[in-house]
Amino acid sequence: MSKGDMNKILVTGACGQIGSELTMALRQKYGNENVVATGHKTKPGPTLRDSGPFEFIDVTRRETVEEVVDRYNIGTIYHMAAILSAVGEQNPHLAWDVNINGLYNILEIARERELTRVFCPSSIAVFGPETPRDNTPQETVLRPTTMYGITKVAGELLCDYYFRRFGLDVRGVRYPGIISSETLPGGGTTDYAVEIFYEAIKHKRYTCFLREDTVLPMMYMPDCIRATIMLMEADLSRLKHHADFNLAAMSFCPAELVAEIKKHIPEFVCEYKPDFRQEIADSWPRTIDDSAAREEWGWEPQYDLAAMTADMLEKLGRKYAEGRL
Ligand code: SER
Repeated sequence: MSKGDMNKILVTGACGQIGSELTMALRQKYGNENVVATGHKTKPGPTLRDSGPFEFIDVTRRETVEEVVDRYNIGTIYHMAAILSAVGEQNPHLAWDVNINGLYNILEIARERELTRVFCPSSIAVFGPETPRDNTPQETVLRPTTMYGITKVAGELLCDYYFRRFGLDVRGVRYPGIISSETLPGGGTTDYAVEIFYEAIKHKRYTCFLREDTVLPMMYMPDCIRATIMLMEADLSRLKHHADFNLAAMSFCPAELVAEIKKHIPEFVCEYKPDFRQEIADSWPRTIDDSAAREEWGWEPQYDLAAMTADMLEKLGRKYAEGRL
């Protein structure tokens, strides 16, 4: 078994909301041929498909991942494949299988081959109703009530175990809700903050599945990609944490987002019909203390609510005008 070439990168979940844009950012930085995008069932869009290698794998079937890792001599893995919070509540068994067994397979493949580095995202979903909800500390109560959150806590612990026990350099952040204009999110509780932009542009109306005063931590995709690559390039000797960094950019509630969108589209109307996702949102923090990420690898966000909203409306507005929305 070869140890892999650290410059050869594999991205799992490459057709997902973060994976699709992360893959393109990595290809731009490290070369198209060096970044192998992988997906499960979703077919890749033309941008992803035509810019570099693409393979189908199933992270719950280890041999499908091993074959690709060995064939491309992979040395670094960004493991973005996961089931998110809302879909996870509808199918907890699938969430466990993909998020736990899938991660275990990735870590074992990396350990056996002594791969250079693995990125595994965690989430604000690791927190639960007993966690302090404002300025949530790095070190705090981790008692989530969703299957997604449970798999993410176990995942963080497993990643840290692989670092301590086997010296595998695994890194990860607790992503807040991610807002983006390229690929729709796949079944999370923070998805309203993406859907609302599509509906504002297309129909000037939106029905929000969370209450208007539900404050959640959020981040715009350019910051998400920058944070991910920054952490992966950080000097290992400076890291005291590994797979569980709190990460923050902005926090807002639906009413505040609506007010910001109305500055650009005054006739926009939003209604509120909270569903099962309200309970999930109510168990998560409002704001996050990310001082460990700032101290250990220099994290600093660039987009706030106003800058993100203006950019989202501009990007989606252009797509709409070109008939691509
Ligand atoms: N955005 C994710 C979700 O809502 C949180 O990690 O599930």
